[in-house]
Amino acid sequence: MKIIHTIKELREWRKTAGTVAFVPTMGNLHAGHMALVREARERAQSVVVSIFVNRLQFGQGEDFDRYPRTLSHDASLIEHECPHAVVFAPDEKELYPHVIQQYKVEPPALQDELCGAFRPGHFRGVATVVSKLFNIVQPTVACFGKKDYQQLFILQQMVEELNMPIDVVPVDTGRAGDGLALSSRNSYLSEAERAEAPRLYHHLTRMRDAIASGERDFARLAEETIEDLVRHGWVVDYVETRNARTLKPAVHTDHALVILLAARIGSTRLIDNIEIQC
Ligand code: PAF
Repeated sequence: MKIIHTIKELREWRKTAGTVAFVPTMGNLHAGHMALVREARERAQSVVVSIFVNRLQFGQGEDFDRYPRTLSHDASLIEHECPHAVVFAPDEKELYPHVIQQYKVEPPALQDELCGAFRPGHFRGVATVVSKLFNIVQPTVACFGKKDYQQLFILQQMVEELNMPIDVVPVDTGRAGDGLALSSRNSYLSEAERAEAPRLYHHLTRMRDAIASGERDFARLAEETIEDLVRHGWVVDYVETRNARTLKPAVHTDHALVILLAARIGSTRLIDNIEIQC
């Protein structure tokens, strides 16, 4: 495995890399990322994993400063899963040589809904850095986790509307044995918070089972979830059922749905979702 820090060196390597499957990350890797790397391994001759904590997608007061930077640990996980992978780990000056990024990629109105309503500018920051990384890596395929369902949706639309010649591959959410979605932010949880965290998945499966059995009062199901989470000390940003294909609010006649939620326990914000065919 090779670690590359500069755009110049990456471009040089890219000339002879053949087809490239790309896994963009912010590091602090876990088993969920390794599923993305395994998927990438099967899809192209070469694999690039980027590790870059992107300031542009963090709001004021969010966890940019405390986000764990664990490059050597990340590199050894990647080496184990895919010895021929290239790790692209630019520093901030390499990707943002000017004090601010002047040109940004502006996603449509969906960027202000769901997570976007609580993290203004977040998806603009994601779309901008992912476009930059796509231009640098020039991948054939890019793998993204379904845990960040709204991010995946926005990036799929971006690739389509901007005619980027890249296949976006969605990868299922990895979960701990008790259902908690694997996330770099799980490392912030105290022991008590970690024990409480699977309540999110419990409610997602409860709502999914109710909808699969014919329940269509999405608002009531969400209220029940919110009430129970609040009772157990959570601060809930949203619990919503949406059309899985359009991400518009679900209507009774939809057959492909996704329930998405975001909530905070202590100082940690967790997100999760579940798809339903009904
Ligand atoms: O999902 C993430 O880890 C980040 O949002 C991404 C796609 C690497 C962009 O910084």
